[in-house]
Amino acid sequence: MEFNVKHGALATIKTGCLVIGISEAKTLSGAAAELDTASGGQLSAAIKRGDISGKSGQSLMLFALPGITAQRVLLVGTGKEELNVRAWRKLVSSVTGQLKNGGASDATLALSELPVKDSDLYARTRLLVESVRDSLYQFDQFKSKKADKPRLKKCSLWSADKADAAALKQAIAHGQAISDGAHLTRNLGNLPGNICTPTYLAKEARALAKELKGTEVEVLDEKDMKALGMGSLLSVSAGSAEPAKLIRLSYQGADSKSKPHVLVGKGITFDTGGISIKPGAGMDEMKYDMCSAATVLGVFKTVASLQLPINLTVIIAAAENMPSGTATKPGDIVTSMSGQTIEILNTDAEGRLVLCDALTYAERFKPASVVDIATLTGACIIALGTKTTGVMGNNDELVEQLLSAGEQAGDRAWQLPLFEEYQEQLDSPFADMANIGGREAGTITAACFLSRFTKAYPWAHLDIAGTAWISGGKDKGATGRPVPLLTQYLLNQIQG
Ligand code: BES
Ligand code: MN
Ligand code: ZN
Repeated sequence: MEFNVKHGALATIKTGCLVIGISEAKTLSGAAAELDTASGGQLSAAIKRGDISGKSGQSLMLFALPGITAQRVLLVGTGKEELNVRAWRKLVSSVTGQLKNGGASDATLALSELPVKDSDLYARTRLLVESVRDSLYQFDQFKSKKADKPRLKKCSLWSADKADAAALKQAIAHGQAISDGAHLTRNLGNLPGNICTPTYLAKEARALAKELKGTEVEVLDEKDMKALGMGSLLSVSAGSAEPAKLIRLSYQGADSKSKPHVLVGKGITFDTGGISIKPGAGMDEMKYDMCSAATVLGVFKTVASLQLPINLTVIIAAAENMPSGTATKPGDIVTSMSGQTIEILNTDAEGRLVLCDALTYAERFKPASVVDIATLTGACIIALGTKTTGVMGNNDELVEQLLSAGEQAGDRAWQLPLFEEYQEQLDSPFADMANIGGREAGTITAACFLSRFTKAYPWAHLDIAGTAWISGGKDKGATGRPVPLLTQYLLNQIQG
C-alpha cells in the first residue's frame, strides 16, 4: 500500500473514493461542510433522509455526486464525542474493510482534521497508516489457493492546511516502517515450528543484515556457546535435534562512541515443555514462543530502514524445547555464563534459562540499556489478559519510558512490582537458585530470576505472553506487538 499527502479543494480531487467523517453534531463542519456546499447540499440531504446520522459505526457510500470529481464518497460516522485511540483504530479498520474489496483502487482520506484524544496529527496519522496496513495483512503462504489481492493500492491523506504536510509525511514514513517491521514479526510468528527453527531465524537475521545499511550480524553456534560457558541456554536445546543459535544484529546510526540500546528476544521456536511436558490441547500455539525474537527482528528492520540516528543491538536466544533421551531432567543443575548455578525444577520454565545467558552476553556491548522481551509466563495472561504487556525492571526511569512509549504508540503495557520480597521464592537447597518460584506471582518470580543476570546495566523486561498472539478461533495469529511500543521507545531516545 502506497500513501501520500494531498491538499487542495475537495470537490475537484481526482480519486476513486473520498472518505469523509460525519459527526453527530447538528451542523456539518470542515471537510464535510466543504463537500456539502460543493455538491449542492447532498450530504445534508442524506442526513435529513436518515441514511446516516453520524453515529460511530455507521457508513454510507454515495456515487457520482453532482459537483464532485471523486467517483465515490464514503461517509463514516464519528460519533458524538472526541475519538480515543481505540475508536480511531476501529474507524480506520472499518473504512479499510469497506475499501479493500470495493471498486476503487485508490482512495483519499479526509480524516486528518478529526481530533483524537491525547494524539497529535503525527501520532494519529501514524496510527492510521499502521491500522490500514494491519487490516490488509494476510498470511496465506501455505494455502494452495491464495486470497485475492486487495483492490485498493493507494491511499492519499488529505489536509486543508499545507503546513500539515511535514507531520503527515513523517507519520507516513514511520507508520510504513513500523508496519513493515510488524509484518515481518507476524510472518515469522505464524510460521510453523518445522520451518521456523533456530537455524531459520539465523538465516533470516543474515538476510536482514544484507538488506539493511549500517548493520552487521553474528551467529554463535552451540560450540561457541559452550566455550562461553552458556550452560543454561544449552540445557534447553539438549533434548532437540535442532541446534540452538545465539543471534546478534547491530545497527550503527549514531557515533560509534554512543552506547547501544540493546533488545534481547526469547526465541523458543517450539516449546513442548521438555520433560515437564505440556498438556496436548492447544500445544500447537507454542510455535509462537519465538514471537519475541520475531519482535526484535521487526524493530531492528524498522529502525535500520528508517536509518534512525541511534545505535541498536538485538540479541536472540534461539532454541527448541523438546523431550528426549538427551533432554535436561527436573532436578538437573547447570552453570550459567555468569557463573551462577541453577537447579532446573521444571523444564517448561525454559525461557528464563535461554535469556539469562543472552543477558550476560549483552554486557560486552556496554549497553545504554537492555530491554528483554519474552512470551515468558502463562501467569501474565492471568494477571493482565491479552490486551496489556507486563513490564518490570531494575530502573524506574527505563520502566517509565517504556510505559509512556506504549501509551504514545497505542500498544500499552503495565508495571508489576519487582520487590525484593519475591526473590526468596527462587531459593534452592542445592544450587544458587531454582528456575521456578512456585504458583504465586509467577510473572514476577520469572522477572526476579532474570534480575539476577542484569545487574550491570539499566534493565527492563516485557512479558508478552498475552499480547504477542491471538489464541484459538479464526483470528488466531501473531499480532506484531510490541513492535510499535519498542519503536516509539527508540524514537524517543533521539531527542533525549
Ligand atoms: N512459553 C511459556 C509461557 C506461555 C504459556 C506463553 C502460555 C503463552 C501462553 C513458558 O515457557 C512456560 O511454559 N512457562 C511456564 C512457567 C512455569 C513452569 C513456572 C508457565 O507459564 O506455565
Ligand atoms: Mn515453557
Ligand atoms: Zn516458553
